[in-house]
Amino acid sequence: MSVLDLATATHNEARQGEAIMPLAQDIKQYHKRFYIESYGCAMNFADSEVVASILNENGFGATTDLTEADLILINTCSIRDKAEQTVRKRLTEFKRLKAARKDILVGVLGCMAERLKSKFLEEEQLVDLVVGPDAYRSIPALVTEAESGQKGVDVLLSREETYADIAPVRLGSNGVTAFVSIMRGCNNMCSFCVVPFTRGRERSRDAYSIIAECQDLFGKGYREVTLLGQNVDSYYWTAETGTETVTFAMLLEKVALISPLLRVRFSTSHPKDITDEVLFTIRKYDNICNYIHLPVQSGSTRILQLMNRTYTREWYIAKFNRIREILPDCGLSTDVICGFCTETEEDHQQTLSLMTYCRFNLSYMYFYSERPGTLAERRYTDDVPETVKKRRLAEVVDVQRRFAYEGMLLDVGKTFKVLIEGNSKKSDQDWAGRNDQNKMIVFPKTTVDHKPGDYVWVNISSCTSATLMGELVPGETD
Ligand code: SAM
Ligand code: SF4
Ligand code: F3S
Repeated sequence: MSVLDLATATHNEARQGEAIMPLAQDIKQYHKRFYIESYGCAMNFADSEVVASILNENGFGATTDLTEADLILINTCSIRDKAEQTVRKRLTEFKRLKAARKDILVGVLGCMAERLKSKFLEEEQLVDLVVGPDAYRSIPALVTEAESGQKGVDVLLSREETYADIAPVRLGSNGVTAFVSIMRGCNNMCSFCVVPFTRGRERSRDAYSIIAECQDLFGKGYREVTLLGQNVDSYYWTAETGTETVTFAMLLEKVALISPLLRVRFSTSHPKDITDEVLFTIRKYDNICNYIHLPVQSGSTRILQLMNRTYTREWYIAKFNRIREILPDCGLSTDVICGFCTETEEDHQQTLSLMTYCRFNLSYMYFYSERPGTLAERRYTDDVPETVKKRRLAEVVDVQRRFAYEGMLLDVGKTFKVLIEGNSKKSDQDWAGRNDQNKMIVFPKTTVDHKPGDYVWVNISSCTSATLMGELVPGETD
């Protein structure tokens, strides 16, 4: 796995391309099977759970076994060219299956479907359905059409759709942590980014449907929700009666009040929009996690302007300092793009120096990939050679690794409250979970009878740049 793959995989909670698990009762209840694989950001994974719910309602049960599926769906990402290539490769495998079993339907969902629309059907002859992110309610009708031999396309973007009334089906979940979509689309026009074109205008979901979903999750034993949006700080919901508005800070508080045992996380924050009110709300509630993902993209004001990020290097640093001031223990992570149009060595040095100043706990680092239709593609030249982009990315990754490790070393000897999520990836003799700051903590199971969803206290004895290792503090549970 390359450094870039690693970054991408972590960003997606290492679930990239994961098929969702069937439920035992499926086998009796449904007469048809669907298989779904998801790529891209957490919002795409959350969308797949909405799609699963719509399909369940229409007689399709989930399977993780491709060979028994009647309907194969791939929920796609367009953020970088590599993401699209991965999907195309996977599609050729599905098409091979379809060539052998003509009655299987293959559907493309998500951002690539939206970007390419019906062109997809010309390019990929064996695809039967193309459905954009706002059109998932039409999947059952499109499947019926496709069963009669007609190809189905629905890529209409909506100004209202939030799927607020659909209870996502949590297949493939650990039963402890869940994503909850609070808004869709994005109104920012970062010049490098395809998301405003694939996801449409920003709209906020009914606050009470969000709270109801979180309450339901808590009732079912979940102990952590991550509120999702491309720019959560601009969440703003007004009741139809016009008598109530809910801002992101207010929403955070409402969700936190469900139970002190329910951890609340959120992603992603835009540096221009995160407010003191949000920071003080995080400080007020122990169960709102001290962790903020604050993508910077570049350390150079000139490049930030070309990127249309609407803040300067100084603004970002001031915001970073404000977070540290109000929330001294807050974990901070970022996104960085290397080699954006016209980026010079000096701009790149500015990014390195910003990272040296901020010492992020975690960074997702990419080299610039030009996306068709974006402002940058239309206005600027993708003029940094790929070798230079990759060298700069390697330098950024190096700096990040060093500071991430140093940050982890500072935690050795400390004791953290950890929410157990499940077995560690390496051994079923160890539990894995995260602390408030979103750091992964692994510790040996003891004779004490713990289970996923329990809070425990762990004393840290060693670390890598990505994981803290320690021992359970006996008798301390919450
Ligand atoms: N909404 C978030 C924000 O404002 O930062 C993130 C959106 S995007 C899904 C995740 C990350 O992908 C971005 O923060 C950016 O670093 C990266 N990204 C987006 N477009 C890119 C491109 N054309 N080339 C390389 N990386 C890109
Ligand atoms: Fe893309 Fe910018 Fe919107 Fe994030 S805020 S999704 S980077 S346009
Ligand atoms: Fe990819 Fe679409 Fe998310 S482009 S990152 S799946 S919003």
